[in-house]
Amino acid sequence: MTKRESVSSVEIRPYKSADRFAISEIIQNCLFEIHRHHYPKHVIDFMAGHFLPDQIDFYAKRNVCLVAVDENDIVGTISLGDNVIYTTFVEPKYQGRKIGFLLLSSIEELARLAGIKVLKTRSSLNAEMFYAKCGFVKTGEDEDIEFGRTVLMEKVILYKP
Ligand SMILES: CC(C)(COP(=O)(O)OP(=O)(O)OC[C@H]1O[C@@H](n2cnc3c(N)ncnc32)[C@H](O)[C@@H]1OP(=O)(O)O)[C@@H](O)C(=O)NCCC(=O)NCCS
Repeated sequence: MTKRESVSSVEIRPYKSADRFAISEIIQNCLFEIHRHHYPKHVIDFMAGHFLPDQIDFYAKRNVCLVAVDENDIVGTISLGDNVIYTTFVEPKYQGRKIGFLLLSSIEELARLAGIKVLKTRSSLNAEMFYAKCGFVKTGEDEDIEFGRTVLMEKVILYKP
């Protein structure tokens, strides 16, 4: 079975500082391969400059940050600050194999354990359907001069008995 057909080898673990380089590269790849079809150049350039390794480390240490690892390769990341999900990114060639779903489910479980009742996110235009598939509903839209247009979404956390 090829990697594209299976995520059985993918594990989710907490972020370590050494992951910042791989995460930055994944985000840059997403920006220049995917986001560029949805956002103007100045937004892509701003975000590319924002998600550099040291900046990623700064925010990852303040939030709860997870990474998806396939064998020894970092292939995705997600983070949670208070009840807001940030930086959900999967390496383009690994997309469509449920790694995003796995990352989101893992952070949702941590949120549930922390007693969070409603998860929120600002989805990029290209990720709205992903979040919708994972149970998020659109509550509005926003436009930022640096990050561009985003879709405000949220999900009520269901408590397991
Ligand atoms: C959005 C992203 C994280 C999804 O990760 P992924 O691993 O490709 O998604 P999954 O394979 O787990 O998909 C889960 C479900 O969402 C659906 N989905 C994922 N991306 C989708 C898209 N762009 N449009 C429509 N449906 C999508 C999948 O088809 C799947 O549905 P299914 O359960 O019915 O099969 C990934 O595409 C990505 O990194 N995109 C670029 C960065 C980005 O925009 N991040 C969001 C920042 S807010």
